[in-house]
Amino acid sequence: MNKAKRKVVIAGNWKMNFTPSEADKFIREIKPMLAGKSGCEIVFCAPYVTIAAAQKAAEGSNINIGAENVHFAEKGAYTGEVSAAMLKECGVQYVIIGHSERRQYFAETDATVNARVKAALAAGMTVILCLGEVKEQRLSGITREVVSMQTKLDLEGVTAEQMKNVIIAYEPVWAIGTGLTATPEQADETCGQIRDALAEIYGREIADGTTIQYGGSMNEKNAAELLAKENVDGGLIGGASLVPEKFKVIVEAAGN
Ligand code: 13P
Repeated sequence: MNKAKRKVVIAGNWKMNFTPSEADKFIREIKPMLAGKSGCEIVFCAPYVTIAAAQKAAEGSNINIGAENVHFAEKGAYTGEVSAAMLKECGVQYVIIGHSERRQYFAETDATVNARVKAALAAGMTVILCLGEVKEQRLSGITREVVSMQTKLDLEGVTAEQMKNVIIAYEPVWAIGTGLTATPEQADETCGQIRDALAEIYGREIADGTTIQYGGSMNEKNAAELLAKENVDGGLIGGASLVPEKFKVIVEAAGN
């Protein structure tokens, strides 16, 4: 059993929700509810403009505030984008990269995801790399091939040393925001397949030490069963990360 060796991370992905004042209110409400919970690392990834308010409200707590994306260039003519150095200077350690909504709606490819991953790691950030199959791929029985290819392409050029700062979030696209959840067995199997791909690249030891979260309609009802699986080391939570009571139950399901 290698699970015990791995860091468990429960992260909320707020997506395009919460203005700064709403984030402030949310964090102040959930802070006492999560106080003293040490069974996992707790992160909320927030819209750029909301990060500062969330950080201020989270001061002195076990809550980390991350970002939802980062650009691949160090600086320059990229109107509307935010660099890793900018996030670092704002005290942001965690960043989501390659979320399926970025891939679907904003033309993100494995090549741009890979470039962003390398830029974030070079700046010393911790990456939450999202990947997962679409419904048709699962139905055609090629999930292993898809997640294995994404793992290899998205991590191309990432060193074994840098893998200490990589968390992978397995997010089946058909389960995101749909209320459909992968069964614990499906989540465990596919996280295991991602781990196999990591082992091919970096060897078993690094693969067995890498945190792999499940994301996709994880909620207060199904979290315990999913998190109990050998290959599932945490969760990336959308909808349920906007409701303090639900998120608290998920954190507790990860251990106290
Ligand atoms: P939901 O939990 O709303 O399905 O979203 C999952 C997700 O996309 C987390 O990144």
